Amino acid sequence: MTTLPQLVSADEGPSSITCDALVVGAYADQGSFQLGRAARDVDADGELSSYLASSGYAGKLGEVAVVPAPDSVAAEAIAVVGLGNRDELRSDVLRRAAGAAVRKLAERSTLGVALHEDVPAGAAAVAEGLLLGSYRFTAHKSDPKPSKIQRISVAGGDAAALERATVVSEATRLARDLVNEPASTLTPTVLADRARAAAEVSDVRCTTWGRDELASRGFGGLLGVSQGSAEEPRFIQLHYAPGGTTRKLALIGKGVTFDSGGLSLKDASNMETMKTDMGGAAAVIGAMSAIGKLKPDVEVIGFIPATENMPSGTAIKPGDVIRHYGGKTTEVLNTDAEGRLILADALSFACEQGPEAIVDVATLTGSIMVALGKKATGVFSNDDALAGEVIGASERAGERFWHMPLYDVYDKELESDVADLKNVGSRWGGAIIAALFLKSFVRESIPWAHLDVAGAARAESDYDEITKGGTGVAVRTLVEWVEGRAT
Ligand code: BES
Ligand code: MN
Ligand code: ZN
Repeated sequence: MTTLPQLVSADEGPSSITCDALVVGAYADQGSFQLGRAARDVDADGELSSYLASSGYAGKLGEVAVVPAPDSVAAEAIAVVGLGNRDELRSDVLRRAAGAAVRKLAERSTLGVALHEDVPAGAAAVAEGLLLGSYRFTAHKSDPKPSKIQRISVAGGDAAALERATVVSEATRLARDLVNEPASTLTPTVLADRARAAAEVSDVRCTTWGRDELASRGFGGLLGVSQGSAEEPRFIQLHYAPGGTTRKLALIGKGVTFDSGGLSLKDASNMETMKTDMGGAAAVIGAMSAIGKLKPDVEVIGFIPATENMPSGTAIKPGDVIRHYGGKTTEVLNTDAEGRLILADALSFACEQGPEAIVDVATLTGSIMVALGKKATGVFSNDDALAGEVIGASERAGERFWHMPLYDVYDKELESDVADLKNVGSRWGGAIIAALFLKSFVRESIPWAHLDVAGAARAESDYDEITKGGTGVAVRTLVEWVEGRAT
């Protein structure tokens, strides 16, 4: 991981912040622009406005113009970033704009940022945008060219809010690192080691089980999916237990470190990005590492079934029947619908621990990308109040989560002739059918939400605070949701 820029809170006014570039905001105003408060402060002589006007600057969200600073300002340069319509200014807009701005300033070493004006939670959102937009994955580059930014001074940010933003951003960057790591260097065993390393620098305990422990405990879904691979599976548990609380939450993350499809093999183009199939696990590891640092007053356990899905002479075959943890059986008709098989074990196991609520995160279906595109997450739940909570948390965290239905008319799709369930139904409504499969492994009395992040876990290009490759989606929302539950 490249080093995180240091975030400090600046007490001085924007024109007095000594830095290589000062980031200020402008609004879109009927085809033209209107300077934000800090931008007006640094434009005493009006030169900034006239330059922007002559260059056709329009203040569109994420539009960045960099100009030399006037002598009256301590900064070397001024970067004006568009915030869009003033009426629509909220924390998520600031996060997006800050991400766009920092990407243009990666060659400078010190930044000052005066963007948030009076938006509630604005400084923290700006800080997250800066720390996430400046992320680069350089682990395998001979000439890494990391972002050169060393220090960022945020005007008017309170220290506690900046500290929380740093923890959450670091956790998101960890999740991105895990997703971006190739499958051959991030096997289930390595994923477990990385989870343990994250736990060691947080208030989290890590336990991992291998093939023998899984066999003696009856994790037939995880074992079945892993049996075609030369790599051993792992069941990873991350436990944050603050003491003095009886409340307990469970998080579950799909940890398929490579999804070839198994014997129901994917074609070459659909396999290219399948190192991403542990994006749910990465989100849970990231979130748990942040939770162990922020120390909310609620116990949280993260469960990660981790395996490869490979074809071989020992691989699970279409038509095979597996027995999950808890005893239910599944006829595996398509070995590429493997995520639900390993999550079924984890859900049954998690229910036994008596959590107040369960949230799982999984790159589960191509179907959710058809429904919502690649920049949004589908939320399925057996409890509307929980779905509302998670979606509320996603809005505060600046992620796009959308409530999807669990219509029981589709239950029939999963009826098997030979086992309790089969693992695939028709192509239509595939994300719903996958979620219904998971639902049948959750005790009805336990509120549960399933986040299908198949699209959102990977970005095809840089935008806003998101960088191309692994996005770390759901880390921010999970942390926000857990903290909301603790109060
Ligand atoms: N890991 C995939 C889903 C996926 C697809 C994630 C594209 C990210 C990008 C999952 O295991 C899978 O293969 N799902 C199948 C299910 C089908 C066989 C019922 C799918 O969605 O095509
Ligand atoms: Mn698959
Ligand atoms: Zn998969």
